[in-house]
Amino acid sequence: MTTSHYDWILGRTPPKLLRHSAVKHALLRDYLVDYFLTLVSTPHQDRVQLTVVDGFCGGGRYIDEAGDEVPGSPVVILEAVQEAQARLLHEQQRRKPIEFDIELICIDDSSSAIEYLRYVLEDQGYRDKLRSGSVQTLIGDFVYLADKVIAEAGRRSPRAGRAIFVLDQYGYDKVPLSTLHQIFSKLKRAEVILTFNVDSLLNFLCEKNLLDFERKTGIMGTATAADLDKEARSPYWRLNVQANLYQSITSGSGASYFTPFFVRPERGHGDFWLLHLSQHWKARDVMTGAHWQHHNHFIHYGAAGFDMLSTGYAARIDNEARPQAAFEFDDIASAASQNDMLTQIPQALGQHPGGICFEHFFLARINTTPATKEMVESTILQLVRENEIEIVGADGGVRNVRAALKPDHVLRLPMQRSFFFPSR
Ligand SMILES: C[S@@+](CC[C@H](N)C(=O)[O-])C[C@H]1O[C@@H](n2cnc3c(N)ncnc32)[C@H](O)[C@@H]1O
Repeated sequence: MTTSHYDWILGRTPPKLLRHSAVKHALLRDYLVDYFLTLVSTPHQDRVQLTVVDGFCGGGRYIDEAGDEVPGSPVVILEAVQEAQARLLHEQQRRKPIEFDIELICIDDSSSAIEYLRYVLEDQGYRDKLRSGSVQTLIGDFVYLADKVIAEAGRRSPRAGRAIFVLDQYGYDKVPLSTLHQIFSKLKRAEVILTFNVDSLLNFLCEKNLLDFERKTGIMGTATAADLDKEARSPYWRLNVQANLYQSITSGSGASYFTPFFVRPERGHGDFWLLHLSQHWKARDVMTGAHWQHHNHFIHYGAAGFDMLSTGYAARIDNEARPQAAFEFDDIASAASQNDMLTQIPQALGQHPGGICFEHFFLARINTTPATKEMVESTILQLVRENEIEIVGADGGVRNVRAALKPDHVLRLPMQRSFFFPSR
């Protein structure tokens, strides 16, 4: 059902890069560069320390459609580190270089893939990193090695608990909920980028497969008996099952912040989920920004604005049970988000007659929106310009904020309007 198409054998041509993998690599590269730039926000900082675990690393090289060699995820990660270092030096006009103390641990259960990867890493100029141990390779099942690598990440970053896990499983059942929970309970600032082939699971969904999936992953409550019955299932069953899955994975993982977007299928469904789970809102915001940067390749089957899943998964369906106008992270999606938020923000503030600070307002909604913080902030500022809401400073005085909101700025409906339902 989910047999691997990825064979790396020394001396042979590497596997072909599939489109969804190219999209994942582009997102991973940009996300990591932006993440490092965010981590090092001032030129005074001179060191970054973290562990990156590539849990399903493959052989590190592919052939693309033009027949050219292209990097696999371990090389993408190493190149992103170099790019971020170079950009920091240039953009912050640094006098002293920044030290990136990054350990990359690559795991694959295929000894042949690891052998190929070590050859590629030497060939690409990373021999010193292999020798020094700053790049390590391990052969084995990710789940069995998880304890060891979580402990290593914790040893290297005992206070901050910073680590990124890239879990590009082929299929949907190789990363149990208990392992995700372990990562987030042991590492305070962990992040997971998890691939999940939803379509593969849904296409073969039957009682036996569901039981196997639940036993292997601990992800329960995905489908009802009616969803399994081909005759009786509702036209919305796929979207309902996706929503249940998302709910179970996010609530069971122990992470605080999530993005649930899909690599855009070429035709029909073909949904490939790229879930990002993290413990810090900033990481979630950087990942959401990366989806907007790659708007041609990502899709969200849900609503714009806030409340993206509860109404979204089932709301936009035509007679063939397909989403009508999916959200594609483009200009149309951006305008739709802003439009929805222009109505939703004053309505939400109606629940807080005394006002609520921007930080709390945003963090309470971050998991419910495909918008970035910058988009939410710019919508709030538009509402301020239109006198729909007002900003109050720490001293209780109304502020004339035009450009940037501070976390402690209090948002509220104007006093004379707060007794009425917002007019939009
Ligand atoms: C989709 S490929 C990975 C590609 C790689 N992340 C990249 O983007 O270049 C999946 C890899 O996971 C490996 N694999 C499959 N099951 C595994 C498991 N349980 N633990 C570790 N590796 C596994 C396969 O051998 C294969 O090399």
